[in-house]
Order: sequence, then C-alpha cells, then structure tokens
Amino acid sequence: MNSTTQARRKPATGLGPQLRRRKSITQMVSESEANSSGGTLRRTLGMWQLTMISVGATLGTGILVILGATVPIAGPAIWISFVIAGITALLSAVSYAEMAGMVPVAGSSYSYTYATMGEGIAWICGWCLVLEYAVSVAAVAVGAGEYVNEALRAFGLELPVSLAGGPAEGGVVNLPALIVVVLATLLLMRGARESAIVNTVVVIIKAGILIFFSIVAFSAFDAGNFQPLLPMGAAGVTAAASSVFFSYIGFDAASTAGEEAKNPKRDLPRAIMLSMLIVTVAYVLVAVSAVGARKWTWFEGSEAALVQIVGEITGQPWMVLVFALASVLAIASVVLTVLYGQTRILLSMSRDGLVPAAFGKISRRTGTPVLGTVITGVLVAITAGFIPLGALADATSIGTLFAFALVGVSVMYLRRKQPLAPRTFKVPFYPVTPILGVLACLFLMTQLSWHTWVVFGAWMLVGIVLYLAYGRRRSTLGKLSKQAYIDSHLSKLPQD
Ligand code: ALA
Repeated sequence: MNSTTQARRKPATGLGPQLRRRKSITQMVSESEANSSGGTLRRTLGMWQLTMISVGATLGTGILVILGATVPIAGPAIWISFVIAGITALLSAVSYAEMAGMVPVAGSSYSYTYATMGEGIAWICGWCLVLEYAVSVAAVAVGAGEYVNEALRAFGLELPVSLAGGPAEGGVVNLPALIVVVLATLLLMRGARESAIVNTVVVIIKAGILIFFSIVAFSAFDAGNFQPLLPMGAAGVTAAASSVFFSYIGFDAASTAGEEAKNPKRDLPRAIMLSMLIVTVAYVLVAVSAVGARKWTWFEGSEAALVQIVGEITGQPWMVLVFALASVLAIASVVLTVLYGQTRILLSMSRDGLVPAAFGKISRRTGTPVLGTVITGVLVAITAGFIPLGALADATSIGTLFAFALVGVSVMYLRRKQPLAPRTFKVPFYPVTPILGVLACLFLMTQLSWHTWVVFGAWMLVGIVLYLAYGRRRSTLGKLSKQAYIDSHLSKLPQD
C-alpha cells in the first residue's frame, strides 16, 4: 500500500482492524536505521560474533542440568529426545534464517509477525518471547545455583538452604541466581561490543568443558547401559523431548542483533544455521556419553549430573571444582546473551508503542538501551531469586514453541504475499519444511504437562488484557495512520 492510499484510508478504530494493522518491512528497516528516541544502536558485530551470540545463548542449563533431570523420563533413549527436539528447532531455525535475512531488525519473531499477521498476533508473539527470553534467563540462572553448590562442596562448604533456593524449595532466595543476573545486567549496560567479546571467550570455555566431559564419560562407556533402550516407552521419549527443547532455545538470539550486525542480511542466516549445527552435535555427543557412563536409573534425583559423573570417574576434587566453576560461567553467558535479546525485543516493541517508551531509550554514551536493561534485569533477578527451575523451564518451552510456530507461518505468509521480495536465505524444500516445523512445534507443545498449559493460558490472558488496556491505544502505527488521515483531510481544505 502506498502512502497516499494509507492516508486516504480511515484509521482503524474497531478492535478487528486494530489487531490486523501491519507494519511494512521497509518501514521497520528505515525506523531501525533512524531511531528517533535517542542515539542509534552501533553496528559492531560480524558473523563470528553473531554465531557466538547464538551458541552463547543456547548452551547452558539445558545440557548441564535438565539433561540429568530428563534421563529418568526417557531412559537411555534420552539422546533420541535430543534428536527430536533438535530437528524441531532446526526446522524452525531455517524459517528464522529466511525471516532474519528479510527483516534484519532487533525485534526477531515479534517483528516478523508484525510485518505479516498484524499487530494482534505480533503482540501475542512478543508476549511469548518474554517467556522465551526473560523467564528462561531466570530458569537458566537457577541452574547456575546448582553448580555453585557443587563448586563449594569441593571445598567442603555448602550454601545455607535459605540462600540456595526460593520459598518453593524450602529456602528464602536463590542468591547465586540473583547475583548472576545482576552481573549480566551490569555488563550489558556497558555495551554490545564489550558483551560480545566476553561472550566469545565464555563460549570457547563451555565448548571446552562439554568436550572434556565427553572424553571423561566415554572412558567409562558401557554399551550395556543402553539396554533396555526404551524402559519408559515411546511416550517417555517424546515427553522428555518437550522438556529438553529448552536446551535449544536461544539459537534465535542472533536475530535480535539485526541492528548491531555489520552485514545482517548475509550474516544472520549463516550464524543461525551454524550455531544450530554446533549445538545439536554437542548435545547428542554429551547425552550419549552421559548415558554410556551411568545407568539411566542413576540419574533419578541427581542435581548437576554432569559434574557428579566427572567427580565419580576421575576421583579428583580439583577437576570437580574446575568443571563446576566453568559450568557456572557457561550458564552465566546464557544469562548474558538471552538478557541481551530480551532488551532488544522490548526496544522494538516500545518503538511500536506496545510497551512503555522507557524500553526504547538508547543512551548516547553507551549506545545501549540502559534504562530498559535495568528494568528487565531487576524483574528477571527477582524471578530467578524466588521461583524454582522446573516451573520456569517448562513455561519457557511452551512459549517458545508457540513463537517458533508463528515464525513458520510468517514465512509461508510472506512467500504468498510478497513472492518477489529479495531473500538472502530461502527455506529449502518449501513449503514442506515450514509446515513440518509448525507441526513439530505444536506436537511438542501437546507433550507438556497440563500445569504448563494452565500457566501458558494465564500468561496469554494477562497479555491480552495488557494489549487491550495499553498497546491497542498507544500503538505508533495507530497514531501514524490517524495523523496521516487528518493530514490528508486538512490538505483538502481551501488554502489562503
Ligand atoms: N538453551 C538455554 C539453556 O539451555 C536456555 O540454558
């Protein structure tokens, strides 16, 4: 639609048209290039750093903590659960790659849905992304707490129960989780480049500990541990797949760096695909080696399972200490990158008027959204300090699966509506790939418990109320079309 037609058309006043109003891709890209609410984000990130952001946001609590918790659900076939979750994530990753190359702005799937299915679905998607990002950061930070305790145990120390978990776990506050979030927030306030350098170093460390773990675990490999392969049946494998899906969340973090990438159209799709490949190989390797080293029943009730396996096999307390400390660092880097992603999505949403302007103010000194980072950091720190891991992780998974399904739908929508628009990356085997991706996400959602569905339903309800009370009225798109309409009528009045 050109601007003249837009100006002549009556602005959307009813709820239906408001939900359907769409923002064009050109408009998003030009806004991201000239952000009027302060300075602009700086383009400092190359393909390597973008890949590291995605790997950094992905490898963490899922493989270091949730693997251990899900072996009893699937049995030795847990590695198949990782493959199922990995295929689901990969099918979504290709859709992300196509969209990220077309709409290289900071809002990730929120922006993709705004350009395709309109404001209502975009808001729902953005609201689900808060589950994927902010709530997952809290979950990840809680996972760090378990490894802090393991590190302390190497010195014969232990955190008092009151500081090791929130009220639901018999404590008062999860202090390590809270501290990790506060430190990540402080670093993010300094700038994207500084954060990216620290992140790259930590990603190398965490890849190192996973390789180290696999070597140690393979030294105690017993093929008999894989018999029987499916003690909990196929249902156990798919249920575990929906929980370990948490481990793949984060590959899309690179797509939130669209406005800080030097060449986003070329590098974002490559970074997303490369990071998915790296993490899938790493996860399957770690899962096979862990189950090869210990019988599946050993994992029942285990905390920080990987470091315990290292301790039992090597019998070296200093190795336990080094592994636990490196794991804390690994998990902290997930907190850093995912928190980064959340602040950039909120930035996009605030530009669109759907969340308060505070999230969109960019500091001229640091080139980062400092105020939005502080507000997000404080809210996440409180969540991490007081809510247990399991509840947070499953809520994260369901929200993410839903957002990923929407990205698959967006790809199909744009292929129909704008078949000739330039695409730097195209989903292979279209339309089979996005259709399978959407179905796989919906299938894994059905495998989550009814409690998780209740949490998801309540979350959606709150989101809908917020949109009706705030976003619907404050939408920048709504204000713009109102202004364009008034201007077009003023221009028809007789001039002096
Ligand atoms: N994928 C991230 C992790 O496993 C959320 O920590």
